[in-house]
Amino acid sequence: MLLLIACVNVNAATRERLSLDRSWLFHQGDVVESAIAGHGDSYSNAKAGNATGAAGNEYDDSDWRHLDLPHDWAVEGPFDPKANIAQGYRPRGIGWYRRYLRVDPADRGKHFELQFDAIATHATIWVNGNVVNRNWSGYNATYIDITPFLRYGDAMNTIAIRVDADAMEGWWYEGAGMYRHSWLVKRNPVHVVTDGVHATPRLVKDKQWSIPVEVTLNNSGKAASDVIVEVTLYDAAGRQVAQRTAPARVGVLANSTVQLPITVNNPAIWTLEKTNLYRVTTRVLQAGKAQDEVSLNTGFRTIRFDAAQGFFLNGVHVKLQGVCIHQDHAGVGVAVPDSVWEYRLRRLKELGVNAIRFSHNAPAAEVLDMVDRMGFVVMDENRNFNTSEDYMKQLEWMVKRDRHHPSVVLWSVFNEEPVQATEVGYEMARRMSAAVKALDDTRPVTAAMNGGFLTELNVSHAVDVVGANYQVPDYDRYHKAYPNKPFTSSEDTSAFMTRGEYKTVKEKNLIASYDDDAAPWGNTHRDAWEAIDKRPFVAGGFVWTGFDYRGEPTPNEWPSVSSVFGIMDLNGFPKTAYYIHQVQWIKDKPLIHIAPHWNWKQGDKVRVMVMANVERIQLLLNGRALGEQKVDPYRMNNFDVAFEPGKLEAIGYRGGKEVVRTAVETTGAPVSLELVPDRAQLNGDGRDALPVTVRALDAQGRAVPLADNEVTFAVTGGGRSIGHGNGDPNSHEDEKGATRRLFNGLAQLIVQTNYDAKDAVMISATAPGLQAARVTIPVKPVAAEPFVAPADAPLTFVRSWRIAPDGDTRPDPNQKLASFDMNTWGWGSPPMRAAAGSKYHLYRASFTPRKNLADGTGRIRFASLKGKAEIWLNGALVGKKDSYAAAPLDVALPAGDGKREINVLIEAEAGQGGGIEGNVTIEPAR
Ligand code: GAL
Repeated sequence: MLLLIACVNVNAATRERLSLDRSWLFHQGDVVESAIAGHGDSYSNAKAGNATGAAGNEYDDSDWRHLDLPHDWAVEGPFDPKANIAQGYRPRGIGWYRRYLRVDPADRGKHFELQFDAIATHATIWVNGNVVNRNWSGYNATYIDITPFLRYGDAMNTIAIRVDADAMEGWWYEGAGMYRHSWLVKRNPVHVVTDGVHATPRLVKDKQWSIPVEVTLNNSGKAASDVIVEVTLYDAAGRQVAQRTAPARVGVLANSTVQLPITVNNPAIWTLEKTNLYRVTTRVLQAGKAQDEVSLNTGFRTIRFDAAQGFFLNGVHVKLQGVCIHQDHAGVGVAVPDSVWEYRLRRLKELGVNAIRFSHNAPAAEVLDMVDRMGFVVMDENRNFNTSEDYMKQLEWMVKRDRHHPSVVLWSVFNEEPVQATEVGYEMARRMSAAVKALDDTRPVTAAMNGGFLTELNVSHAVDVVGANYQVPDYDRYHKAYPNKPFTSSEDTSAFMTRGEYKTVKEKNLIASYDDDAAPWGNTHRDAWEAIDKRPFVAGGFVWTGFDYRGEPTPNEWPSVSSVFGIMDLNGFPKTAYYIHQVQWIKDKPLIHIAPHWNWKQGDKVRVMVMANVERIQLLLNGRALGEQKVDPYRMNNFDVAFEPGKLEAIGYRGGKEVVRTAVETTGAPVSLELVPDRAQLNGDGRDALPVTVRALDAQGRAVPLADNEVTFAVTGGGRSIGHGNGDPNSHEDEKGATRRLFNGLAQLIVQTNYDAKDAVMISATAPGLQAARVTIPVKPVAAEPFVAPADAPLTFVRSWRIAPDGDTRPDPNQKLASFDMNTWGWGSPPMRAAAGSKYHLYRASFTPRKNLADGTGRIRFASLKGKAEIWLNGALVGKKDSYAAAPLDVALPAGDGKREINVLIEAEAGQGGGIEGNVTIEPAR
């Protein structure tokens, strides 16, 4: 504990952004309190800080589960055929989180903000019994200034969050709970507000650029402040490129906006291949001392959507080779570690993807940072189409948070809205587009319309780039009718494939991976891309989807629980679609692939698809030439081959010369397991996670493509398993348990390091009849990012007291006070010290001890009582203090049920004050 506290740099001069991911208490299900009744309780319920039940301060959460974020409870539970198919038959329900927070008295005066990056789906948040936020977005962040509510020192702070995940915003798996990161940001009184630096570069002329930096400051202090705002631009090598300062005066509890335009000559340009990221650092200085500092990355690039020729990045034509993706991954649901996101993006990059549409919501900030670094362009999409205040705030939040990212090239205000072809839709889109432009006029606004763009008045008239979901037959009609309007596919394909299956078996919900099946509204991968690629006016495409996701198992239903739209499965294992797109999208190096595997029965007629980006290909079986074909870049090359065991080989030629070759081989039965970690090392920071591929090998060490062995995992050392998957859309296996079956030869285990891990992570995989696999992943000791120390509070604080009028005659400590009398007695919370004068002071409160202390093992602890004291509990005298001097007092808490009434009668020394000067807590007896 002490060690953990030491990690927090309490006296940092500028801001501290502390992870609040650790040490939450969780309860699955709602916590329903009996209805509030009676005048006294009703009155109290209406007052600041007095939320009751699990929302309140003193709720007994001692039997709640301890966990760290990110957390998705939906993925932990079993499937239920009665649950919603759209959400992958995962019951979602309601859950509660609580967390305690101790704030150092030395930090009094600082500004404290809670940040929840996303909570699925409706969240109500209380701090110290005050409702501080109601967020109806499962995808947007919440920033909460908790400064005024805080208590310092031993008086603990309570955060309580009720999450209603029965509420839905989508028709796909959305997970449940606090599935992104959370933070506590501690800043000096004069500080830059969250997302308060607007730094979006723009080209002025030739090679001259400007960043019209705008900084928004706030002052939570008690005096107006004169500060200097300093903005510095650093290049990718960390060299200072430009600096600018400006004075600002920030009024008390007011915001102030400062403009600091920066001119930059000839910067290194951000491209998809070389993502030159610049850093904008903003400092706030007062009397020469830094008060706040915040940095963001940005990049210099131009974008243009041309109605005839599509998309241009830095003046260079780029066809958008895009995918739509949701945000869940095998084993972890939507609580995807950042490093697993890095893996997912890397898979997309290897596939040749250059554009991502985060459908249908803004992604995590960390993901966009990676995207900037790895080189993709992004369609950043707003979740809800609604122009009312709450929803406009969600849209504005997205633009403010994301406008510095060079990767973002399009703002999408919606996906497929039934009102898209109406005046209502047009009026709404017009307002949302205007709201976006007010915050960022450097990028076009789009909307993903599934039709309706050819009617007289529709949303397309309110956006800059028309986005079409499917509607291939209308591509040309639209362009003919509106030759001057930029146009892109915002979503296409929706084709079906089950990874590793090459025969459609309807009764088993299995779909062959030859790219023959698509939704009625969609197209096969090959047809969709051909339609897009052959039309220069279509800026590009966004395949539905890059990865399978839970829910929407179209065209199947139970027992299918995941979609089969993905180019890759839920683990990121490639399907045939992966190779189809890879040879279409990657031009600079020769590629060749064969589908299917080569484990068939003698005499089977096998359809072989060869995918290559060369000129000609030849197919050989056991060295025998089966034929040669000119590569068809849209259809791929197909052969009918009579199976015989051995080696099927494909050779690719350019200019008559062999440039690439590949083969599939018939394997024997599995004899051993193999574990292949995605990276060679893990960071021991408690966050780093990596996928480990699990496969079965034959006696010659070849991966067996149809293996379905049940594998048992054990993870020891510096890490643990956080889940696993196998890409089988029909699997109902527990994603968190110790076992997982291979599906078509593969499974994936995700391991994550523990906090402060130094030891290597050891993984073993065993299966009956197979030689076990073991792998050791070295762990690099890496300090965890700064975090808020865990502060479990098994204590009950007695905080809300009534104070009887002072007097010199001894009052009856148990005298009645009518429940409707709000005014004869006063109100207070320790420390409560009466001034010298009267002799007797009487205080009354009620409390409910935690279950584990109600049986006579608890004590009432007064940190400091001044004056002689009598302690009465439920009408009985339970403790006494006989000296006048201020001192602590411990009183045994008698066993009992429910709420207790406590009366404290103080007799002050003549001429001295007296009272309850310190915290009153219910603690375990010593
Ligand atoms: C689209 C929709 C996607 C997904 C897809 C399935 O209409 O935008 O979210 O549902 O269909 O084909």
